[in-house]
Amino acid sequence: MTSINPIHNALPSVQQIAQAFSQAAQTYDQVAGLQRLVADDLLARGQALHTGKILDIGSGTGYVSAHLASKADVMSVTGIDIAQGMLDFASSQHAHDKLSWLLGDAQNLSSALGTRRGSFDTVVSSLAIQWCSDLVALFSGVAQSLTPAGVFHAATLGPNTLHQLKWAWAQADDYQHVNEFVAKQALQAALNQHFDDVELVTKEVVLGYDTVQQLTRDLKDLGASNHNAQAAPGLTGVGRLRRMMQAYESLRDENGQLPVTYEVYFITARQTSGRANKSRVSS
Ligand SMILES: C[S@@+](CC[C@H](N)C(=O)[O-])C[C@H]1O[C@@H](n2cnc3c(N)ncnc32)[C@H](O)[C@@H]1O
Repeated sequence: MTSINPIHNALPSVQQIAQAFSQAAQTYDQVAGLQRLVADDLLARGQALHTGKILDIGSGTGYVSAHLASKADVMSVTGIDIAQGMLDFASSQHAHDKLSWLLGDAQNLSSALGTRRGSFDTVVSSLAIQWCSDLVALFSGVAQSLTPAGVFHAATLGPNTLHQLKWAWAQADDYQHVNEFVAKQALQAALNQHFDDVELVTKEVVLGYDTVQQLTRDLKDLGASNHNAQAAPGLTGVGRLRRMMQAYESLRDENGQLPVTYEVYFITARQTSGRANKSRVSS
């Protein structure tokens, strides 16, 4: 079992994550059922929040950015992503004069944004920040990207995510096959370092799959499979894979489906004291 530093998420390198998502850009939209559910929920919860100049962190294939650009009270949307393949795909799919795309690491927003720091009314992010290992750098950059009255509105994943797959693999070997996700208290603590007013809402989503192969294929096509630094080296042995699948089969529910849980956290965070401005001035 990997122990997690409360505000340092154990993940592969930014380059590995970027490569995996770039490779998945062409297949992502076809299998992004959960991602669409969460993005639509975030957009619905943020109807009144998502206005003005918007930064979309981890914009991926551009679904959230394009939706926001179509709103009358949105002036511009900048989608930032670490994966050039995702940015290329997004710009090929969505043409709108309010939209622009930027290559950059969410954990180093000040360098990616340059003089545009402090100019965004809203920073949104749907299912991207769970890929960031340095949450303090991430949230510090987000706070500094916002205007004093700006709001950060994001969806990310909690540790109960894919717990059935994690359990099934634990019956087969001792490697880590499922990413670890930061717990709510640690997320709250990291947010509190940069925002005065933080709200975290948890929602559990349980999907039903017909086969384990379908689940593992979807995770691969999303660019989300087996990313963790503790993952088994080399190819996963056939015997271990079979043991994992047999274990997962024992979880089949009364409807004949294999349950797949996602623990989703919705974050709404603001400054009330203008401290990001103070740190921006002093930095
Ligand atoms: C699961 S996808 C979500 C995409 C999109 N927001 C959606 O809802 O469909 C995660 C995205 O975050 C991006 N990402 C991961 N780590 C990042 C980082 N450190 N900085 C910027 N983007 C990152 C990935 O390249 C990928 O496009």
